[in-house]
Amino acid sequence: MAQIMDGKAYSKEILTQIKSRVENLENKPSIAVILVGDDPASKIYVKNKEKTARELGFVSKTFYLKENTSVNELKDLILNLNLDEDTDAILLQLPLPKHLVSQDFIELIDPKKDVDGFHPINCGRLLTNSNPYAISCTPKGVVKLLKKYNVEISGSNAVIIGRSNMVGKPLAQLLLAQNATVTVAHSKTKNLAQTAREADILISATGIKGLVTKNFVKENAVVVDVGISRDESGKIFGDVDFEEVSKIASLITPVPGGIGPMTIAMLMENTLELSLKNAKF
Ligand code: GUN
Repeated sequence: MAQIMDGKAYSKEILTQIKSRVENLENKPSIAVILVGDDPASKIYVKNKEKTARELGFVSKTFYLKENTSVNELKDLILNLNLDEDTDAILLQLPLPKHLVSQDFIELIDPKKDVDGFHPINCGRLLTNSNPYAISCTPKGVVKLLKKYNVEISGSNAVIIGRSNMVGKPLAQLLLAQNATVTVAHSKTKNLAQTAREADILISATGIKGLVTKNFVKENAVVVDVGISRDESGKIFGDVDFEEVSKIASLITPVPGGIGPMTIAMLMENTLELSLKNAKF
C-alpha cells in the first residue's frame, strides 16, 4: 500500500511558520483578490484564500465585480492596485466571464505584484531560471510536497498529464530545473496509459474524474493528483482512482487533502515573499 503524502498536514506546518514570521513584521503583507462574476467554485476558493490570509495576519481585500463588468472597469481596478502602495500582491481569480480575455488582464498586473506568477515576465523568468517574482502556486506546492517526502526528482522520469498555463507548463519547467526528464502529455497524446506507465513520478492535472487507473501506473511510482472535479452534490474528486492506484504506487496524494491545501499555502508564501521584496525602507 502506498504511503499518503499529506498535503493538509504539511500546509498547516508551512502556514504556522508564515504566521510566526508575520507577527514580527511591522508592515503586514497585503493581498488583493479580484473575483469577476458568480462562479460558485471560484467564490469558495476566494473565500478560503481570504480566510487563510486573515488568519495569518495579512491584510486581505477582495473585490467582487459583477458578471457584466466592462473591460475598462477591470483594467482600471488592476492599474489602481498596481499603483497602490498598500497592496503587495494581486490575484485575479480565473476563469473570467467569456467577454473578458484572461491573458489581456494577466499582462496588466505589475509583475512585482503578480502573486500567481502568470505574467509573461514571470513565466519567462521561470523558463530561464532567472528569479521570477513569484512561481505559480500549484506547481510550487507539488514540488514542495515531493521534497517533503524525499522523492528523488533528479534523474527521474516525470510525466505530467495536462498542459495548462496554470499547472502543466510551469510544473514542467520546475521539474526540468530539478533535473527530471519531463514528458507533458495531454488530450491528444496517443497511448496515454503507456506514456504514463513510464513515469517514476506521475502528476495528473486534468479535472477528469478517475482518468488515472491502475494500468497508468508503474509499480512503486509516485502519484500526484492535482485534479479537482465535483459531482452534482458538490463532492470533490481527483483524477486518480485512489482505491486501485494506492495499491501499486509507493507514494500518493489524496483528494481532498493533498495538493489543494498546498496551493493555498504557496499563495500565502508568495504573498509574504512579494511583500518582503516590495518593502520600502
Ligand atoms: N483559478 C483556479 N486556480 C487558480 C489559481 O491558482 N489562480 C488564479 N488566479 N485563479 C485560479
